[in-house]
Amino acid sequence: MKVGIDKIGFYAPNTYIDLIDLAKERGVDPNKFLIGIGQERQTVVPLSQDVVSMAANAATSIFSESDRDTIDMILFGTETGVDNSKSAAIYLQQLLGLRKNVRTVELKQACYGATAGVLLARDYVTVHPDRKVLVIGSDIARYGLKTAGEVTQGGGAVAMIISAEPSILVLEAETSHISEDIMDFWRPINRREALVDGKYSTNVYLDFFQTAFESYKKQTDRELSDFDAMTFHLPFTKMGLKGLRTVLNQVDENKQKQLMTEFENSRVYNKQIGNLYTGSLYLSLLSLLSETKLDAGSRIGLFSYGSGAEGEFYSGILQEAYKRQLNPEQMAHWLDNRTRLTISEYETIFNQSLPADNGDFETDINKDDGVFVFAGIKDKKRIYRKK
Ligand code: CAA
Repeated sequence: MKVGIDKIGFYAPNTYIDLIDLAKERGVDPNKFLIGIGQERQTVVPLSQDVVSMAANAATSIFSESDRDTIDMILFGTETGVDNSKSAAIYLQQLLGLRKNVRTVELKQACYGATAGVLLARDYVTVHPDRKVLVIGSDIARYGLKTAGEVTQGGGAVAMIISAEPSILVLEAETSHISEDIMDFWRPINRREALVDGKYSTNVYLDFFQTAFESYKKQTDRELSDFDAMTFHLPFTKMGLKGLRTVLNQVDENKQKQLMTEFENSRVYNKQIGNLYTGSLYLSLLSLLSETKLDAGSRIGLFSYGSGAEGEFYSGILQEAYKRQLNPEQMAHWLDNRTRLTISEYETIFNQSLPADNGDFETDINKDDGVFVFAGIKDKKRIYRKK
């Protein structure tokens, strides 16, 4: 039976900074950010959005009534959780009007959480072919003002529906997984900004990619030449390029050109939005699907990496209807019409925080473009609204 990604939707707030502005303000050559890091713009997430409201906005953009009736489970990947006890997924059950007998679970392993969701969902649907699973990757990437990681921030959410006979991507059975307890990037409880050993993290990422890919090849007898596109977790888009370059010498020049063209397609959106942590690989997949002319039957590789660290390489086959649910023109229009913030406006938003004692607080929802917003805190409870 074929199981995989049937729908994919995205949401990010419409405020951003231009990284040339940031480079000038920080006294850095803009080409370091544009070429060296591979990022052009970065989403700025206002207090009126959090991982729950962003996920609800992403999910609502792809939902149909029949999905509402057949979704059995919400698997919510995030490393920006809003509660130490209650899962972010259970808020979605209510916001999206899902049935009460839906399982709702939050999954955490840095940027790997949504991939755990996709693969667990695949296994569930394989056993229950008439049911569907909603998988979320929603995060806010924060390193701190004037840090080396500042240029690799961002935020947003990707929502996917996993089903039998999917319209977009049938997932192949074999995956190759690797995990090791290391400290390359982490965020202790009560810290809003990540701690990171930046250079080490990029080395572990590459090491995990090569190990996972080689092991996948052994398991499957497939070679890089069997792939039509390779997608990567993109904390910043140069990272995926570095990964791809480690294996490109395994194929001839024509294949190299094809894989490079498709890699460029897969990073168009990420360059404009920044790091989504759990959602980054899937935003890259969405970018590829929207920009490419690949035919149905093409094989796509997906490399997921979550610091701490966990990596997985898996693959899928493009389906005939994969373009049907996408709207690249609308996405391009949205990307071109967002609100550009000055660096000073961004710094002000970055420094805003909720009351440390969880006292009553209202966010400014008037300027927010989301259908769902985080309206604030009342009686120590988070309040979400549909506008
Ligand atoms: N023109 C063109 N390129 C330039 C340039 C210029 N004027 N100046 C510098 N560069 C290039 C450098 O040569 C370098 O290229 P290579 O990496 O190909 O060698 C690149 O720009 C970056 O320069 P630096 O290495 O000097 O950058 P940095 O020390 O300021 O830090 C970073 C870069 C380590 C990625 C930092 O941004 C960081 O710590 N980011 C957060 C951590 C991260 O994203 N890690 C990724 C793996 S972990 C993960 O994937 C999980 C996750 O989501 C966090």
